[in-house]
Amino acid sequence: MLGEVGGRVACDSVVAPGSGGIPESRQGSVKRDNSTTKRFLAEAGICEGMHVLEIGCGGGEVTRLLAELVGPSGRVVALDRNEAALPTPPAPNVQFLAVDITGDLKSLEQFPRGSFQALAGRRVLMYLAEPAEVLGRLSEWLEGGALVVFEEADSTLVPGRLAPLPAHDQATEWFKSMLLAEGANPSMGFHLPATLARAGFHFAKVRGEAVIQGQGSQFPLADLLTMMKSRIVSAAIATAAEVDSLVERLRQEASDPTRVFVSDISFCAWAHTSGGTAASTGEPDPRKRR
Ligand SMILES: C[S@@+](CC[C@H](N)C(=O)[O-])C[C@H]1O[C@@H](n2cnc3c(N)ncnc32)[C@H](O)[C@@H]1O
Repeated sequence: MLGEVGGRVACDSVVAPGSGGIPESRQGSVKRDNSTTKRFLAEAGICEGMHVLEIGCGGGEVTRLLAELVGPSGRVVALDRNEAALPTPPAPNVQFLAVDITGDLKSLEQFPRGSFQALAGRRVLMYLAEPAEVLGRLSEWLEGGALVVFEEADSTLVPGRLAPLPAHDQATEWFKSMLLAEGANPSMGFHLPATLARAGFHFAKVRGEAVIQGQGSQFPLADLLTMMKSRIVSAAIATAAEVDSLVERLRQEASDPTRVFVSDISFCAWAHTSGGTAASTGEPDPRKRR
């Protein structure tokens, strides 16, 4: 069941910066490349046949990647508190459930305790006040030796550039302020390993990848700012006119493709629950724990 995942995923682009509690499938018509996430998940050990519990699935982009990696013999149960965001399951082995993971988990009682071999999510822990406590409660549904893998955006080190790019610098500051105003943690990536350990898991690895503007098919800052306009205005960070003006300046600054601007870092960390053996519990193949 837990053999090698076929074929490495090509790495040609990165995911967009943290984008609030809004399901990203609804944030505009721009299609994001998810190859970084797929590569992270495969390296962490998500593989064919696994039963995966995903939290904060939003529009289901990560759910689709998980379903692809576990294949028809695996299963993905994906949770989000925002029922309206939940899409139609892309495959018969995928189930979406409206659950607020900080609240009552009784709708998970339909699944036997210890029945999942992995717990996963992307850009959701940053919105939780007590992420370790939430993960600890969810661990009851994980079997011994299960994989716990999360990817989180982090803006601690940004803007990253050799010389100031005033409009780009301003946009990253506004995004950071917006996340703080919304109660999110813009440094969740750096906190990931300690959060997994505090939840009682055995930390295995952490990876980080720069989101570089203009490279790959992630959202350019001008598009991201347009999508985030209402949130920036409602957090009283800037007026609508100021946002529009910055969008124009961003487009002008972005015209030189040789200037490298790091707008975010995408971190992925993984860990395992105690107990279990590869033979009896489907613990991920140790060869995958690089
Ligand atoms: C930034 S979106 C990420 C969506 C998806 N994971 C992705 O990367 O494309 C964060 C998601 O977490 C969900 N979320 C936040 N807090 C939650 C909670 N307490 N319970 C369940 N879902 C939650 C939001 O509804 C939203 O869909």
